[in-house]
Amino acid sequence: MTHPVLSALGLGAEESGTYLGNGEWGRGGAGVLEPVNPATEEVLGRVAASSEAEYETIVERAQAAFKVWRTTPAPRRGEAVRLCAEALRRHKDALGSLVALEMGKSKPEGDGEVQEMIDIGEFAVGLSRQLYGLTMHSERPGHRMYEQWHPLGIVGIISAFNFPVAVWAWNSFVAAVCGDISIWKPSGKTPLSAIASMKICNQALRAGGFPDIFFMFNDTDNALAQRMVDDRRVAMISFTGSTKVGRVVGERVARRMGRSLLELGGNNAIIVDPSADLKLAIPAIVFGAVGTAGQRCTTTRRLIVHESIYEDVLARLKAAYAQVEKKIGDPTDPANLMGPLNSRSAVEAYLAAIEKAKALGGTVESGGRALTDRKGFFVLPTIITGLSNDAEVVQTETFAPILYVMKYERLEDAIAMQNDVPQGLSSAIFTTNLKAAEAFLSAAGSDCGIANVNIGTSGAEIGGAFGGEKETGGGRESGSDAWKAYMRRQTNTINYSDALPLAQGIVFEL
Ligand code: UN1
Repeated sequence: MTHPVLSALGLGAEESGTYLGNGEWGRGGAGVLEPVNPATEEVLGRVAASSEAEYETIVERAQAAFKVWRTTPAPRRGEAVRLCAEALRRHKDALGSLVALEMGKSKPEGDGEVQEMIDIGEFAVGLSRQLYGLTMHSERPGHRMYEQWHPLGIVGIISAFNFPVAVWAWNSFVAAVCGDISIWKPSGKTPLSAIASMKICNQALRAGGFPDIFFMFNDTDNALAQRMVDDRRVAMISFTGSTKVGRVVGERVARRMGRSLLELGGNNAIIVDPSADLKLAIPAIVFGAVGTAGQRCTTTRRLIVHESIYEDVLARLKAAYAQVEKKIGDPTDPANLMGPLNSRSAVEAYLAAIEKAKALGGTVESGGRALTDRKGFFVLPTIITGLSNDAEVVQTETFAPILYVMKYERLEDAIAMQNDVPQGLSSAIFTTNLKAAEAFLSAAGSDCGIANVNIGTSGAEIGGAFGGEKETGGGRESGSDAWKAYMRRQTNTINYSDALPLAQGIVFEL
């Protein structure tokens, strides 16, 4: 029987994972994906994975579509994205529920993810009139110099299960106003949320008389995704996922001199200094560590607390975690704060990390086990103390709700600890001390792509550029001028004089 959350979006128990354009969905022929409800372990539906021939059709049609789209005026391209954002707004409740059902995040977080799609859509509409280049003063008389931004081509988007729909929107909506065509390979764990999003947007585009600008394929074993990574016809690969896979993607795209945008792992810390307002800090830490069951790349994984308030902070956190434990369950029930992990293997990774932490002398202060009294991939949010920042398990991103709490004495040591991990995505300090806040944000402060004061590490707004340094991959997407990654820059010099002066004063007389 089809789950009512799927029916509400017009999805059946059997779906095609291939959008070929022209309103056509492919027949597949390369196996079947069976996404599982992580709260019940039941198969939610069957998705036909895309064949090689279908991939070829998509790329050929995307190439043809690009020829038309690149010369469509950018504000007109913005109108297409506006229709998508409007359609998503109408379907927010249903799509938010599907994200909660299939990914396992709470219903408010599922709705919040769809809100991020709407927000980036509206951002992109405004952006469609603001793809500004600079003008420069030429050193030569009678010359004008400027730069312009042209569409790049086909953008391949490979997204992860934890943000099964928003990451596509951040990329594809911005790419669309930039004049690019996108091809999406969603996570094999969350294809239904992806199919629903494609249907909502492509129906809106067709009803509005727009051509195909969004394509999609699904894969059972990543063979087609690898093909896309190596495909010279795909100008850019935007990859969100683990550092391990992202490193391979980055290397392969670089080998063909393509462009890549990498959004990889984080190992995000919050520093709590002695002046911190704990009324703000405690809920921020708990949301950061426990939200999405610890499966955001921006999840708070390390807490670095001044020794003078360490015991107090730990006691308050344990009390808060006891409250969360009472609200773990079916993520589609808005009363629950925390759903399951997304898969059995995630539960295994969670348990393995806790075992390693214990073996290294860590103490489990809260949680520390899977919930075996029920079906589904539920675990308890976990606090571990007594490990040093350089312990291997602390240095590693485990995609689960495990928080390592550590002490510090001097702020510079706290900042050094915060930076001393391979990843560099998000970071935060809780302080009411201006000097501490500014030191944290200074050039000698946090080395992350995101650094916050008195808010947590997760839940970034779409208006800023999102991404991080070091093993996080260096990519930036979403707001600010992240759009530049989706366009090619061209420098133009125009001579309107009757002479041909050379730059640098060079004389070359015939
Ligand atoms: C991710 O976890 O892949 O800042 C992205 C946040 C969200 C995005 C997270 N806006 O937590």
